[in-house]
Amino acid sequence: MFSTKVLPPTAAAIEEAAALLRAGGVVAFPTETVYGLGANGFDPAACAKIYEAKGRPSDNPLILHIAHRAMLDEVALDVPEMAERLLAAFAPGPLTLVLRRRDAVPLGITGGLATVGVRMPENDVALALIRAAGVPLAAPSANTSGRPSPTTAQAVLDDLAGRIPLILDGGPCRFGVESTIVDVTGEAAVILRPGAITREMLEEVVGAVQLDPGLAAQERMAQAAKGADGEAADDARAAARAPRAPGMKYTHYAPRAPLTLLAAPPAALAAAFRRALAEAEGKTVGLLVSDETAAALAGEVEESRIVRLGARGDQRRIAARLYEALRSFDGKSVDCIFGEALDEAGLGLAIMNRLKKAAGYRIRRF
Ligand code: TXA
Ligand code: MG
Repeated sequence: MFSTKVLPPTAAAIEEAAALLRAGGVVAFPTETVYGLGANGFDPAACAKIYEAKGRPSDNPLILHIAHRAMLDEVALDVPEMAERLLAAFAPGPLTLVLRRRDAVPLGITGGLATVGVRMPENDVALALIRAAGVPLAAPSANTSGRPSPTTAQAVLDDLAGRIPLILDGGPCRFGVESTIVDVTGEAAVILRPGAITREMLEEVVGAVQLDPGLAAQERMAQAAKGADGEAADDARAAARAPRAPGMKYTHYAPRAPLTLLAAPPAALAAAFRRALAEAEGKTVGLLVSDETAAALAGEVEESRIVRLGARGDQRRIAARLYEALRSFDGKSVDCIFGEALDEAGLGLAIMNRLKKAAGYRIRRF
């Protein structure tokens, strides 16, 4: 057990964190996407503490965080042209590249894979910490495995208090969803996890970009799933083909009360919520909705049970609020949550990827 310290990211606090990292400890730190739980990426024993603190399955690889381009060559081999162009366009930023792994990277942190995920975060605290530690930092999101990723120091504390010694508090994260993961080891770039760098943005730099068929299979299965709790949904959950980012196969991002997404054309959404609410009579239902749907239902549902994500058109804001919104239900003692299925264009792909996972692929179409 630790008594977990939360410190503002002063030079002294960053030095204290770096000393912990150099000594083989773990530290939570802010990035522009979500908070990470870092350890020396070359030290398997230190990285084992990450898995332990999070309760993370050991086959789920960690990504390495670097502070400058030269650090990439310490961990990756044969960096292709395509990767260089993506780095020039998006590093530092919310993009993780999957590259061939150097032997220096312990197998224990890559889940036994021949590849390694690497990213350069666009956050001054993260960059200063990596520089001070002097090594690439292995860092998954700083949540308990399966919970929504933390976008504030408080959310890290809620999950990991007593399990880690130090959290650097850099305030709320700017993007709020994790980095886009792109595999650049093949002919064409493949998105393994959608994120703030959208497919459209990637295609402007490297031409056609594919979506991991494992993700698409999950999508198709989700579409095949009819009832909220029906057999089809269970089959879909079981059958969803394992995606290539190993972590994407686990239940994820889940609030404590079960979430079901309601999908309908915008004009029919309020009616869909009314119907689902009527059918759930007797249950205390929380709503996770756009400002528009919240406005349409105002007066019909107790205000304290409505969590607003933002205006439908403001995807940046919705992404930034998403995990805090999911976590906020843990304090509301609701029996279940109905969430609004949002548009999947642009950043919407990443938002809906996380929402569907949080819902365990329970989607009701109206
Ligand atoms: O924005 C982010 O990426 C955040 C911040 C902290 O940097 N980190 C993050 O890490 O989301 P994590 O561990 O929660 O998610 C990393 C994902 C997992 O799904 C993992 O399976 C996948 O990346 N991954 C890691 N290495 C991989 C590899 N070599 N090939 C395929 N997928 C990989
Ligand atoms: Mg994670």
